[in-house]
Amino acid sequence: MTPLQLEEHVSLRPYNTFGLDVRARYFARFASVEELRQLLARPEVQGTEKLILGGGSNVLFTQDFAGVVLKNEIKGLEIISQNTDLEVDTALLRAGAGESWHGLVEYALDQNLSGIENLSLIPGTVGAAPLQNIGAYGAELRDTFERLEALETASGQLRVFGKDECGFGYRESVFKGPLKNQFIVTAVVLRLHRTARPNVRYGALTETLADLGIEGDPTPRDVSRAVVHIRRSKLPDPAEIGNAGSFFKNPELSQAKFDQLQSQYPDLPGYPVPGGVKVPAGWLIERAGFKGQRRGEGPGTHGVHDRQALVLVNHGGATGPELRALAEEIIGAVRQQFGVELHPEVNIL
Ligand code: FAD
Ligand code: EPU
Repeated sequence: MTPLQLEEHVSLRPYNTFGLDVRARYFARFASVEELRQLLARPEVQGTEKLILGGGSNVLFTQDFAGVVLKNEIKGLEIISQNTDLEVDTALLRAGAGESWHGLVEYALDQNLSGIENLSLIPGTVGAAPLQNIGAYGAELRDTFERLEALETASGQLRVFGKDECGFGYRESVFKGPLKNQFIVTAVVLRLHRTARPNVRYGALTETLADLGIEGDPTPRDVSRAVVHIRRSKLPDPAEIGNAGSFFKNPELSQAKFDQLQSQYPDLPGYPVPGGVKVPAGWLIERAGFKGQRRGEGPGTHGVHDRQALVLVNHGGATGPELRALAEEIIGAVRQQFGVELHPEVNIL
């Protein structure tokens, strides 16, 4: 058996959607749990800081990575239980953590399985999806999540986590919180529906379905098409403009704080959540004057997307520290104008 390649001083530019040119001291890929275990046993890897990388679509590198970057390429898509009992409408779909998330959505649609169509076109891998409980257009990963398999870095043991053990919240899980950097997700199992159950509660979805001429009961494929349509109209494609999606989370305010702000800003949108009101950070950032701003030399190297103020962009040539400085400036401006604290969604390294 040939040992797995452990490269040195590798540029991470192709491996992060901001397109930032930082270097990893060591870099390796793994395509199975066995390969991952072999890598973890290597002397250069043991005792060194490790970063598990999927598609690099939720990270901001602000410096070279002094440890080892392990890129997850574990593949496999399989329906592992097809309950034929007519009372039971679900099928379990197991995906290797290195599969593309959107590829999984397409696979489910091809199998006539419903439940993740609202999460179409989210970049990145299946294995990263539980880390922040990905969500969009009225759905979240946890709605269909059954369990995941993860390797404990310290012991090399595989462990199964059921939904209740993952601590899912809005863009949160135990793997971002108390268990951070302790487990490497190797597979995810979802429970999907064999009969269509489109969820079109999100306002913009209903409007877009109508605009696309889809009338009556939409199919999961229709919902996916509508989601893809909205996303392409608002969010920059990382292949063209470097970005990591929403840079900040939408803040949750107490009802009293929301009422106070709304009396000052009557058009401030808000969505009720348990214990308060969630407000769109994009609205606050736009009102603070940042939307479409460009910073840096010439026409600008980085800035705030002109169609979505929640998205920071690298127009080319930006550095991680420049993007972090812009994020900090935005946090300061929103705090000063609205008394609201913004927290990054992106993992800053
Ligand atoms: P990476 O960026 O590679 O990693 C993210 C974090 O997870 C890192 O801390 C990494 O160490 C850790 N990690 C990755 N894989 C594993 C693993 N197997 N085991 C343990 N830890 C791991 N997110 C949403 O929720 N909703 C959206 O609508 C959305 N839209 C986006 C749109 C655009 C244009 C972009 C660029 C991003 C968007 N995102 C969205 C953010 C991003 O796509 C998701 O967070 C995605 O799940 C990240 O996957 P990734 O494989 O690229 O993760
Ligand atoms: N808005 C503005 N100006 C802007 C952007 C947004 O005023 O520049 C206001 C508008 O009122 C708009 C509202 O914000 O109606 C909501 O905007 P949008 O539907 O674009 O959603 P979002 O709250 O900005 C969230 C997620 C996205 C997800 C979409 C769709 C977070 C942090 N972001 O964005 O997720 O795709 O909803 O569900 O929750 C991501 O996490 O990377 C991401 C892209």
